[in-house]
Amino acid sequence: MTRTPITVLTYGTFDLFHHGHVRLLQRLSQLGDELIVGCSTDEFNDIKGKRCVMPFSQRREVLEACRYVTRVIPEETWEQKRSDIVNHNVSIFAMGDDWTGHFDDLGDLTRVLYLPRTPDVSTTELKTRIQQRVSAA
Ligand code: CTP
Repeated sequence: MTRTPITVLTYGTFDLFHHGHVRLLQRLSQLGDELIVGCSTDEFNDIKGKRCVMPFSQRREVLEACRYVTRVIPEETWEQKRSDIVNHNVSIFAMGDDWTGHFDDLGDLTRVLYLPRTPDVSTTELKTRIQQRVSAA
């Protein structure tokens, strides 16, 4: 008997792709058979007040090259999560634990998990490090 594949879904900006991103995606991929990543578009980042170094097309390309990722979809609104979960038959919705509690309302559709972040790295911290190097040069 064939079993239905377990699909995991996550969202994020993934600018200046770093090892915190890699480790999250690796752990998410281990939770199921397929990992779908919703990558925030540039327009959605504007709404969130996030300014990226890399445009959406490049962030998407990097994510697609990551061995843990099955498929990348654009994240264009806060509200699309419910329809994405239904349309992609998602069994697990998961984010890093900086989002703990934010998406508990999706629990009526799927299992909601928050995984611990990798300490001491973030896109913001990388940007600061680069700025400090440039200033010190
Ligand atoms: N993430 C993680 N560990 C880190 C950094 C990020 O697990 N050290 C996770 C986040 O919790 C999120 C996903 O990676 O689920 C995408 O996060 P994103 O906001 O793109 O990365 P950050 O490095 O946190 O970016 P920023 O500093 O701009 O907030």
